[in-house]
Formats: sequence, structure tokens, C-alpha cells
Amino acid sequence: MNDVGAATTGIAPVLHDNRCVVCVGPGGVGKTSTAAALAMYAAAAGKRTVVLTIDPARRLANALGLAEIGSVERPVAAAAFERVGLTAPAGRLTAMMLDIKEAWDEVIRRYHPDPDRRERLMRNRLYGAMSTALAGSQEYMAMEKLHALATRADDPLDVIVLDTPPANHALDFLEAPSRMVNALDNDATRWLLEPYQTHGRLGRRLFDAGSSFFIRTISKFIGTEMLEDLADLLVGFQGMFDGFRERAEVVARLLAAQDTAFVVVGTPSPVGIDEADAFVSRLRDRGLQVGALVLNRATVDPYRASVGVLAPVDELRQRIVAAGGPVDMAERLHAAVSADHVRAAQEIEAAKALAGKHDPLRVAMVPELSDDVHDLKGLSLMRDALVRG
Ligand SMILES: Nc1ncnc2c1ncn2[C@@H]1O[C@H](COP(=O)(O)OP(=O)(O)OP(=O)(O)O)[C@@H](O)[C@H]1O
Ligand SMILES: [Mg+2]
Repeated sequence: MNDVGAATTGIAPVLHDNRCVVCVGPGGVGKTSTAAALAMYAAAAGKRTVVLTIDPARRLANALGLAEIGSVERPVAAAAFERVGLTAPAGRLTAMMLDIKEAWDEVIRRYHPDPDRRERLMRNRLYGAMSTALAGSQEYMAMEKLHALATRADDPLDVIVLDTPPANHALDFLEAPSRMVNALDNDATRWLLEPYQTHGRLGRRLFDAGSSFFIRTISKFIGTEMLEDLADLLVGFQGMFDGFRERAEVVARLLAAQDTAFVVVGTPSPVGIDEADAFVSRLRDRGLQVGALVLNRATVDPYRASVGVLAPVDELRQRIVAAGGPVDMAERLHAAVSADHVRAAQEIEAAKALAGKHDPLRVAMVPELSDDVHDLKGLSLMRDALVRG
């Protein structure tokens, strides 16, 4: 099951040449598993590595030592590797997951300029809902975390592997943060908050029924009380937007840096290939470095995978007949695997074509494993497929 064809080039150099490695791609293709497997490789290669995962499956989180919810960075214990027969990494592997509410709290605690408003903001009834529901909030916080990890002075890191939320489009991840900040800080909110800015408090007049057609209209939908909460929430954020923007700019520079690489994760199905193609093109159009393409859950070419067992058919027939088996068994076996064989060949051709189109581009094909990637053993199989040259 190891040979998925000559389309693969092994993507280990991406981990040696870069400090930040960002796994991007559509939903469910294997971004989180790939990020963890790549981090495992970097740690084994002696690097102080962290993987920041987004919504990892519970079992995978447990395997990475992330049993408790919360965005605390934790080491993956040497014993966890040894338990499944693996050697503990020469470097260090730590893992964390993004807890959005906690990440918001941390940013607000760290950067809010005004202690009173900070506390009030965090007590606001809409704050909890906003921090998780606001579109782009997850992407924004992933970037805040990346910023914090990349710039921390104590305990510096050699490699930071960032997992990202599912995206339909390569730029969703990159643009979501600014869309989110703009949603909080736009003309409408400034208008809504104007009385506060001028009078130093939320003018009662803003909420007096009849004072404004706009307020009367939205009050009908969301209720005056909620509107007050909303205004209060937005007021709470005043003073933070410049910081949001500044750090987003720092992250944008970090993402465009020479030692940052994107790893596009996709599948080798025809639709998956088209999506991956678009992701690679859009990232490169933006001047971002695409370090590698991972085509995950590839159909393994059964002929190649089991050389000596199933191929060639004549030899197989002879062996089966010599062993007293039915004459047509070789054909039936071949028929059973031929659909996979054809698909595998198509996937390999498509991978080669894509690699050629975007040359130079490292491509790894990771086979569909017999089980979900939910433990260190599964991650090690994935890692081996990713780095195999
Ligand atoms: N090569 C593989 N073989 C078998 N199962 C796999 C493979 N790669 C990933 N999986 C499984 O597929 C599921 C999705 O993988 P993963 O969570 O890594 O994808 P994702 O891109 O991060 O998803 P999302 O977009 O929802 O965050 C998981 O259950 C994982 O264990
Ligand atoms: Mg994921």
C-alpha cells in the first residue's frame, strides 16, 4: 500500500525550509490530520514544533494529549509515542487547539486599552455568542494565535504548523479576518455609536422609541434591550480596532514571508483536483508560497500495492491452478480490483498533470488508510506517505 506512483515527490523539504506551515483546503479533506502528521515529522527531525489544530476530532485530540477543552499548548508525551511502538521525537512536539471564546478573552485581556470597558465587554450578554458566531472569527483567532506563537520571545519555536477552518476558496481564510474586523467597525456601527462618541455615553435618545426610523425598525426585529446590548458590545470594542488591524497586517506579512509555506490539502478525485488547482493558483496569484500539494485519501493502485500477489494475471492464473484453484479465479480477482486500478491510475495521472501545471510543486499522495487517522499510529502512517520521495 506504499506505492501510489511516481507522481509523488515527498514534501519533507517544506518542513526544513520553513518556519510557518499553513495547511489549507476545502472541508473534510484531511487538513487537521495533515497538519498533525507534518508536525510529527518536524519534531522527529529535531525541531521544536507546535501544531495548532482547529476542531480536531475528539479521538485525535486525545491522542495529541488535548483531552481538555481549551487552547493551552501541551507537549505530546514521549510515552504516548512509545505506547504505540513509535520512537519519541528527537525534537519536541506540542499541540494546541483553538478555543475561540478563550482566544477572544485572551486578546481582549491582553490588548484592551480600558480596564473598565474591558470587563464590561466580557460580561456583555452578546459577547459569548458573538465571539463564536461571527463569520471569520475562527480565522481571525487562528491568525492571532499564529501571531502570538511566531512572536513569542521565550521558548522560541522552530516550526509552527497551522491547521485552518474549511474554506471553499483559498482566499476565504486570508480575507475572513479583515471582513470580520470590518463587520465590527464600519459606517453603520460608527453611526450607531455616534451619540456615545459625542456625549461620552450611550445617549438615551438613541433608544427612545420614535427617535429614529432605523432604530425603531431594527428594534422590532431584535428588541430594544438586545439593541442596547449590541451597542454596548460595539462600544466595548472601541479602541481595539487599530490593534486588530495592526496584528492582522503583521500576520499578513508573516504569511507572505520567505519562510512561510502553504500546504494545499485536497483529494485526487476530479472535483478535488479542480479545487486544489484553484487553491494553488489563487495563493500564488497573491504572491504566497505554496510549498506542497497533498492529495489525500488516494485510491491505492492494487496492482502496484500487491506486486507478486495479483500481477501479472497469467502468472496468477498459473499459480492458482497449480494450487488446485478454479481456472477463472485470477480473472475474477483482477475484475474485483480493476475498478480501483483504473481509478488509481487516473488519480496518479491527474496528480502528475497538476504538478506539471504548477511546476515546481511538491506533491504527496496519501492513500486512504484502513482506519480513521485518530491516533499517533495513524498519524505516523500519514507522515510516512507525506514525506516519501
Ligand atoms: N488518508 C486517510 N485515510 C483514512 N481516513 C482519513 C485520511 N485522512 C483523513 N481521514 C479521516 O477523515 C476525517 C477528516 O479528516 P480531517 O479532520 O483531517 O479533515 P479536515 O480537512 O481537517 O476537516 P474539516 O474541514 O472538517 O476541518 C477524519 O475522520 C480523519 O481521521
Ligand atoms: Mg479540520
